[in-house]
Amino acid sequence: MSEKIRVLIDQQTVETRIAEVAEQINRDYEGQKIHLVGILKGSVMFMCELAKHLTMPVTMDFMSCSSYEEGTVSKGIVRLTKDLDQPIEGKDVLLVEDIIDSGNTLAYLLSALPARKPASLKLCTLLDKPSRRVRKEVVVDYTCFEIDDYFVVGYGLDYDQKYRNLPYIGVVELD
Ligand code: IMP
Ligand code: MG
Repeated sequence: MSEKIRVLIDQQTVETRIAEVAEQINRDYEGQKIHLVGILKGSVMFMCELAKHLTMPVTMDFMSCSSYEEGTVSKGIVRLTKDLDQPIEGKDVLLVEDIIDSGNTLAYLLSALPARKPASLKLCTLLDKPSRRVRKEVVVDYTCFEIDDYFVVGYGLDYDQKYRNLPYIGVVELD
């Protein structure tokens, strides 16, 4: 069986849309600083492209989460595998995600991080698959693209750790 990648959203479209969302963030955070928190590893390419267009003072940190799985069934329990390096108290934090699927990862972060007393906490994602959402309480402040229920790769997203480097978003097809 070989894998082929079908382009779903080409590089130009991805980058034009990220620049648009960055403009909206520039307007919303006018006169403020912003502390970007990227969820490793998928958000890295998106966060870099987004940050290039931000005009306010920007700082960055990263954290990593994984879902506990028992057999093949995900129970929706999320575990922190790498914590932030810096405190977020008093900072205007923008969480940066690659994709929101069930919403379990974000539901966990949005319940855990307020205890650290950020001045504000918002959420920005490259992709959203709303039809897959289990955790309805996850409200996204900035979404670049809503997509149907495809398994996508590229622009930071992986299939078996592959394809994160593709400069576009594609769908894996097996033949
Ligand atoms: P959630 O906790 O179910 O919302 O899952 C979010 C995480 O699952 C994302 O941050 C991705 O790492 C991964 N994920 C979900 N859908 C896809 C996909 O289509 N391609 C690659 N990774 C995905
Ligand atoms: Mg992720």
